[in-house]
Amino acid sequence: MSQDTPPEEKLPSEQTHGPLARGEEDPFADPGLPPHLPRIQDIDERAAKRSERTVALLFVISMLATIAFIASYVAFPIDKIVYIFPFGHVSILNFALGITLGIALFCIGAGAVHWARTLMSDREVPDDRHAIESPPEVRAKVMQDFSEGVAESGFGRRKLIRNTLFGAMALVPLSGVMLLRDLGPLPEKKLRATMWAKGKQLINMNTKQPLRPEDVAVGSLTFAMPDGLKETDEDFQEQIAKAALMIVRIQPDEIKDKRELDWSHQGIVAYSKICTHVGCPISLYEQQTHHVLCPCHQSTFDLSDGAKVIFGPAGHPLPQLRIGVNGQGNLEALGDFDQPVGPAFWERG
Ligand code: FES
Repeated sequence: MSQDTPPEEKLPSEQTHGPLARGEEDPFADPGLPPHLPRIQDIDERAAKRSERTVALLFVISMLATIAFIASYVAFPIDKIVYIFPFGHVSILNFALGITLGIALFCIGAGAVHWARTLMSDREVPDDRHAIESPPEVRAKVMQDFSEGVAESGFGRRKLIRNTLFGAMALVPLSGVMLLRDLGPLPEKKLRATMWAKGKQLINMNTKQPLRPEDVAVGSLTFAMPDGLKETDEDFQEQIAKAALMIVRIQPDEIKDKRELDWSHQGIVAYSKICTHVGCPISLYEQQTHHVLCPCHQSTFDLSDGAKVIFGPAGHPLPQLRIGVNGQGNLEALGDFDQPVGPAFWERG
């Protein structure tokens, strides 16, 4: 701070105060550090050993959890849904991967914290403020303190902790390596067909009731799934990921694509909800322009013109489902999608 700085702009710690009157207590007196109290581990070698074993146990649990992660990945099928209280119906694979990876990471953190709190030095050392740039002798002191810290932590001496920590740290990355297996194999023909077929009614995904033309207002966006598919079905996730449908109603004279008009019912059009870029679910509809936007990378499709891509990285229009009305007045499919849903770049050449 410069010499010209007015006293009132100085930081409280920099302010000076006049000499104290006789018998007056200095309100800014440095209280100093409280006396250091040794921990039980500092004075009892058996307590220190117990802490050491606790830390090692946490690292061993981490290793076992990582092995369980890998075993879960191999053992559980990706589409197996089970009921687990209080989460409801969940994928057993995702649940097992989340739990085991969480335990593996938590135990490494908990072991490190317990090690630091019970076995590493807990002496408080005041460090006076200094210029931001450290002079060479300070840097040398830092290196010396670091070396002393390493020695005090017992990293070299406590081989059990050190080795189990290395083991846990070495195994955790295997979780990520295992997930690389999800890059393949290619689905080939598996995405070519969905549950939609001639006569399948469109079920409103919110109300779980068959959709009727009068339920679909102009400007609204409705999501539908095929009749017969239930959330408790074992293959629900696999089926809905292919068959999820977007329903919108457009004034027939605003539909520019002739085939789209033929495949609609009184302006009600049904398109796949799965983005043709990399498969995110599309959910944003702009009723004035009839554009739908994929939230993942902003691909935009024009639902009044054959769901053509007008912006973004998607390479293909959304597949359309031909629809009509059955004898009960409910909307029904008149076949499957006109092309494979989702990215499908491996099939199109
Ligand atoms: S997944 Fe839709 S834009 Fe990328």
